[in-house]
Amino acid sequence: MQITLNGLTNQNKILLASKVCDNRFIPHNPFRQQLYFLSSTREEDFYGGQAGGGKSDALLMASLMYCDYLPEDNDQVVYDALILRRTLDDLEMPNAILDRAKQWLLPYEDKGLVYYKDIKKKFKFYNGATLTFRYLAHNNDLNKYQGAELQFIGFDELTQFPENQYLYLHSRLRKTEDNPIPLRMRGASNPGGVGHEWVKKRFINKDSPCSYVPSAYTDNPYLNHDEYGKQLDKLDELTRQQLKFGNWDIILSSGLLMDLETYNQRKISYDTFKDWQPVYTTIGIDQASTGTDRFAMSCLTYFDNGKLVLVDLDSTPSSEPQYRLIDFIKRNQRFMPRVVNFEKEQGSSPHYALTYWRNLLLDLSSKMGFYVTDTSASSTGSKYNRAYPVAYHIRNGSMLINRDIPCFYEGSELYDPVSVFGSQLVYLHPDKEVMKEFRSPDESDSVAYAFEKMQESISGLALKV
Ligand SMILES: Nc1ncnc2c1ncn2[C@@H]1O[C@H](COP(=O)(O)OP(=O)(O)OP(=O)(O)O)[C@@H](O)[C@H]1O
Ligand SMILES: [Mg+2]
Repeated sequence: MQITLNGLTNQNKILLASKVCDNRFIPHNPFRQQLYFLSSTREEDFYGGQAGGGKSDALLMASLMYCDYLPEDNDQVVYDALILRRTLDDLEMPNAILDRAKQWLLPYEDKGLVYYKDIKKKFKFYNGATLTFRYLAHNNDLNKYQGAELQFIGFDELTQFPENQYLYLHSRLRKTEDNPIPLRMRGASNPGGVGHEWVKKRFINKDSPCSYVPSAYTDNPYLNHDEYGKQLDKLDELTRQQLKFGNWDIILSSGLLMDLETYNQRKISYDTFKDWQPVYTTIGIDQASTGTDRFAMSCLTYFDNGKLVLVDLDSTPSSEPQYRLIDFIKRNQRFMPRVVNFEKEQGSSPHYALTYWRNLLLDLSSKMGFYVTDTSASSTGSKYNRAYPVAYHIRNGSMLINRDIPCFYEGSELYDPVSVFGSQLVYLHPDKEVMKEFRSPDESDSVAYAFEKMQESISGLALKV
């Protein structure tokens, strides 16, 4: 296909000609949107929107731009590139970005131009340049990059990553002063996924600090547009809006367990229930296990007028939530909590985890008169099943939500636990594949753990799922 360079500056054209068109390792000719992305001289750039818009191709081409270009006799010129996917499965999928890199580059192994080491998923080029593929499932995986120095970092499906991972890796984008290779941080993604909000804020919104190149499957001349459009029409409406139309603004308002309108009608002010008499109060804790998870705490009170109220809800991404938990219990003292129920930690020593919490809360529990226990996640089924009875009671009005639960700032972002919990009830879905698109519903799980203990003590709440 003919490359048209209309609208690009001469500087952009020279960059593209030398680093893309004359590059042996890039067998595809970029189409218009890809050209804009590849010619970007900004440190950070983002490509995407719709499915099939040539995102993975564009990212791979961008990573290879300096792999066939380095002057061989200059020691100062170094080019090390890294491409990330969120999980090992994502990385190893057929025709995903690593597979495509193999298709493009392995034919050059025989010619001595490329050497590939599968264990490291690393391509080394004849001139010393490297391109490595990795996945980044957990925050602990970031430790591997301590001291790393990279000139290109590409995130395929960026909205699957939490912001802290992106920002940490950004700090690994470095070079020596005399290395002329530009530093580039590149992302490509559809809307949706755990990182949707921060990616939208950073790249998509009108007032975003960074820009982006929108792409559509209809821009990609290598796809059959009618056929591909029909495939995307088979998706549920939210995903169809995100993948077919690259819609970053759609908000799911109605799900299998809850619609937002009903949820909002169940909110009551603190003044409404502050003089009601508490009969029984439980606190539920969902512990964070992976990078994007939050440590969530909820306080549920059954009052003598038969109303169940979610009186408090809090969560933190911190890996040291002890003091936050103590504060949370103390601030709910007036509801007289009787049980603090943890999600039982997975792994070999859950007993020690519970002993740890019991010791930590020993003084408080004897002073306030609650006991500390745990419930195993597997005994209560999926997150969807755990939320089911809670959602049922909210829908039928027997459970209400304190609308005055405090919001708080996390960095520059205002975190509103009440609306976070509401949106989780809306997007909770029994299919694990669907849930991968959303942040782990930790707040909802903590409410479910509080509810679990409540229904053991208050008759009439138990519900068969
Ligand atoms: N410039 C190009 N030249 C030839 N084929 C291309 C080009 N760009 C993309 N394609 C092909 O179009 C198809 C879709 O591209 P790609 O997988 O990069 O899109 P994507 O936006 O990453 O899709 P997805 O949303 O499924 O991840 C692939 O088969 C890819 O090889
Ligand atoms: Mg892709």
